[in-house]
Amino acid sequence: MQDILKEFPEREVEAIIRDASKIMLEADNHRMHIEKKDGAANFVTEYDVKVQRFLEGKFSALLPGCGFLAEEEGENENPLGDGYMFIIDPIDGTTNFMFGRRASCISVGVFYNRQALYGAVYDPYADRFYSARAGQGAYLNGERIFAADRDPSVGIAYIGSAPYYREKTGRIIAETTYEILMHFGDIRRLGSAALEICSIASGEADMYCEPILSPWDHAAAGLILKEAGGIVTDYHGDPLGYNGPSSVLAATKASYETAQNLLKGMV
Ligand code: IPD
Ligand code: CA
Repeated sequence: MQDILKEFPEREVEAIIRDASKIMLEADNHRMHIEKKDGAANFVTEYDVKVQRFLEGKFSALLPGCGFLAEEEGENENPLGDGYMFIIDPIDGTTNFMFGRRASCISVGVFYNRQALYGAVYDPYADRFYSARAGQGAYLNGERIFAADRDPSVGIAYIGSAPYYREKTGRIIAETTYEILMHFGDIRRLGSAALEICSIASGEADMYCEPILSPWDHAAAGLILKEAGGIVTDYHGDPLGYNGPSSVLAATKASYETAQNLLKGMV
């Protein structure tokens, strides 16, 4: 993996993601075309599609033959294959984006022969570029970052509450909220799983959980958090796969056990 990393064009990938983010920044909130996807309150805008097409065009030119697993345009069931594979969420936090809440990002995970190689999560509103290369640490705007070492009783917990499958997840989320409130310092919700997980990597929060999350929401941020010293698994403590949705628990080392004990019976 370290040999592949030597030739991986990280600077070019970062420049492409930064360029793609201009499409988000120039979007017209008041007139965007929005379509509904499967599930409750699950939307895609014309800009999600534009960002995804831009990224795929540029990455294909940079690394010919690479594959994609991406949220929009029917590319969300591609299995992880050999060679370079990009797992992309063109806009994570689409509902925030639609409403002009400036808390969304572009998430790009790069895999080589099914192993996580590189992750990037870019919040263009705050100009925060989180990145990590496998085995080489996590960075925010080029500065090394580390997960916090705080007791969970004073820590911040994010509870992902996407409404898409709420018939199935509503009660789980309500029960989880009670348990987390009794064991953690306080609760937050940004509305972008990738940014929530990255903020644990940079020491600003301690735990994130969501009963059903898709691979493009955690592929990049999961590597970033692990490289910052955190732990990412499903609620049962098993490693995450990339072939479909699963529960996700992302936490600092100090908070992981408390959270996993609370969550393991929930799904
Ligand atoms: C969603 C966001 C949200 C999380 C959902 C995700 P999207 O991604 O990350 O915070 O709760 O589970 O699907 O739809 O905005 O790309
Ligand atoms: Ca998205």
